[in-house]
Amino acid sequence: MTLDIPLLIDSSSHRTLTGQICDQLLAMIRHGRLRGGDVLPASRDLCLQLGVSRNTVVAAYADLNAQGYLEAFGRGGTRIALATGTRREQVHGLPPVPCLHGGNIKPPAISEAARIARRVRHTLFDPMRNRLPLDFRVGLPDSRLFPREPWAKCIRDRLSASALGMTDYVDPAGVPELRSAISHLVRTHRGVACTSEQVIVTSGVQQGLDLVCRLLLDPGVSVLMENPTYGSAREAIRSHGATLAYCRIASDGIDTDALPASGARMIYVTPSHQFPMGNTMSLARRLALLEWARNTGTYIVEDDYDSDFRYRGAPLSALASLDNDELVIYLGTFSKTLGAGLRLGYMIVPPALLPAARALKDLADHGRSWLEQVALADFINLGHYESHVRKAKTAYRARCKLLVDGLSSLVPGSEITGADGGMHLTWILPLRLATADRLRERLSELGVVVYTLRHGPAAYEDPSNDLIDRVLLLGYPCLSEAKISSALKLIETALSDCEGNENPRVDEP
Ligand SMILES: Cc1ncc(COP(=O)(O)O)c(C=O)c1O
Repeated sequence: MTLDIPLLIDSSSHRTLTGQICDQLLAMIRHGRLRGGDVLPASRDLCLQLGVSRNTVVAAYADLNAQGYLEAFGRGGTRIALATGTRREQVHGLPPVPCLHGGNIKPPAISEAARIARRVRHTLFDPMRNRLPLDFRVGLPDSRLFPREPWAKCIRDRLSASALGMTDYVDPAGVPELRSAISHLVRTHRGVACTSEQVIVTSGVQQGLDLVCRLLLDPGVSVLMENPTYGSAREAIRSHGATLAYCRIASDGIDTDALPASGARMIYVTPSHQFPMGNTMSLARRLALLEWARNTGTYIVEDDYDSDFRYRGAPLSALASLDNDELVIYLGTFSKTLGAGLRLGYMIVPPALLPAARALKDLADHGRSWLEQVALADFINLGHYESHVRKAKTAYRARCKLLVDGLSSLVPGSEITGADGGMHLTWILPLRLATADRLRERLSELGVVVYTLRHGPAAYEDPSNDLIDRVLLLGYPCLSEAKISSALKLIETALSDCEGNENPRVDEP
């Protein structure tokens, strides 16, 4: 690829024109802005760009060529010599560029948020994800079930209808037809009575969370989270400088009796399928949480990430459906039903927060890509979304059941939570077995990947508690039933290999 090179000619300089071109190209090579193999513009183009004679450019190229920095290639082309490599240290004979962070020069200040964020190790991006074939990856849908044909048709139809959406700015809160389709979905499926104006289309729960933090937080304010919780949420909130406090999880959701009387600026919860433990918050707990929020003036952030998949019992209403006080900000996503790569989600914002939320969204990105938004609106309105979710749910239910039955028969009396819905289950190892980390290690030697509270998308605050040694997280949507059966055999092998390697902290009756 030929580069456009930002060179400037200073007509007042005492340096020759050829010399100026050489100096600037060398500086770019030295700073790594031009690298071995980069193609330079033809001399006839560069001379027009700079307003100099062609001979001046030809002389500069010849000079650098003679010094070994440039080389001819193809039919009359000029490029940076491959021998200069791609890193500036490899450039022979050039003095090193002063190193800001290693030398005596004080680096310019960065924000507190950036200082916190650069310590974060938590990311869902995993370039090695296809490393092992039996990966119980938490929270990803099965790519083989992606509704490629109807999705492609929705994209094609919109693309061929008009190009205006591709060239103009969209409403930062989302295109009206998608906001209306989403408000209909959450009203009918999650019981949340909202207008389409309250819907803001985001690039997933993660952007929703970031906007919530911008809306509600100041450095030092207190934020409550469940313990354990979702690591990406914790780090996003922490990066805004909030002081975090944690609240125990009971079998029926967050322990509302333990909530602080002083309240907090906000509390982040996952009521439908607690992340990562999988419990569902009972109605009594939901009402108690709402009452506490009302009494203490605390906003509730409801992350409803995977509730489209419910395998047993009646469909659940969202916590937001019970909110009469406009205290719940609801976050939803299409990452679990369609795919995380789409980066499409939404938030439902109480009316009082809407103007600020809209403005913050505008400042963040001026709106999401038009094409995927309108295609998704059509996809939902034409019924493809519901039929895809139905199909995926049937497949995931069967995989979940196979896994639960298999684990229960391998280790009778196993405690398994979160298998009534969602996309992962939590296997709480009996105390007599090896620790979760030991089992994870052995399994990975056998080609099976499982996740623990230390290694995976969860975050946990109390490492002295036994839970951290006993919890394994297994996502099943990405594995076929045949692969789950193979993995179960290897889990059996790992369990017997780890026998005699029991949890050393246990004194079991
Ligand atoms: C608790 C929880 N919330 C949200 C998400 C998804 O976030 P996003 O919509 O940003 O992809 C995940 C993904 O694993 C999750 O586990």
